[in-house]
Amino acid sequence: TPPRLLAFAGSLREASYNRRLIPVLAAGAEAAGATVTLVELRDFPLPVYDGDIEAAGMPGNVRRLQALLGEHDGLLVSTPEYNGSMPALVKNTLDWISRPMEDGRPGTALFAGKVAGIVSASPGPLGGLRSLLVLRDALAKLGLLVVPQQVAVGQAAERLPARGVLEDARLRESVHAVGAAVAAWARGVGRAA
Ligand code: FNR
Repeated sequence: TPPRLLAFAGSLREASYNRRLIPVLAAGAEAAGATVTLVELRDFPLPVYDGDIEAAGMPGNVRRLQALLGEHDGLLVSTPEYNGSMPALVKNTLDWISRPMEDGRPGTALFAGKVAGIVSASPGPLGGLRSLLVLRDALAKLGLLVVPQQVAVGQAAERLPARGVLEDARLRESVHAVGAAVAAWARGVGRAA
């Protein structure tokens, strides 16, 4: 069976460069044989993590995201960079998912052993590179294997004019290669090597 990957951009806004980039990453994984489910975090609004909210009853969107992650073998993420780090949206989403599942098992078990590929986009020259370091670390701490390939797309206003369109051919190939690496590792090829 083909590896199943869950993909999302770490931005809510309609014209987000990362929302434009995530289909490019997904296409690379699909070309390498993976099945990709692209979700919009806008469709899973969550409050900022609050233990009192959790104690009063886990938000339905946390349960939905946990169930979705449980059905997949890996993650594809395109993240903005906010002040040199990942946006609160991304961390908040990961934190909520890591909380205990309905059956009492820790949500971190949903991440453990899965594979992740990360890219970023920013109108600036560095493309959000620093956010990738932070996101890589956070995903590794959750037990995911984050593939070594990663791409930060700078000058995103020029390079990402529309959803799924990355103008620079070399950059596009690099982003596809991140997706392909995730597909390979999720299939177990990387582990067998
Ligand atoms: C930014 N932006 C930004 N860009 C960057 O390259 N490095 C940075 O550290 C920051 N910091 C930052 C902080 C905050 C609070 C905001 C709102 C923005 C600019 C950012 O890259 C830009 O808004 C992107 O367009 C955000 O990604 P999306 O929404 O286009 O995917």
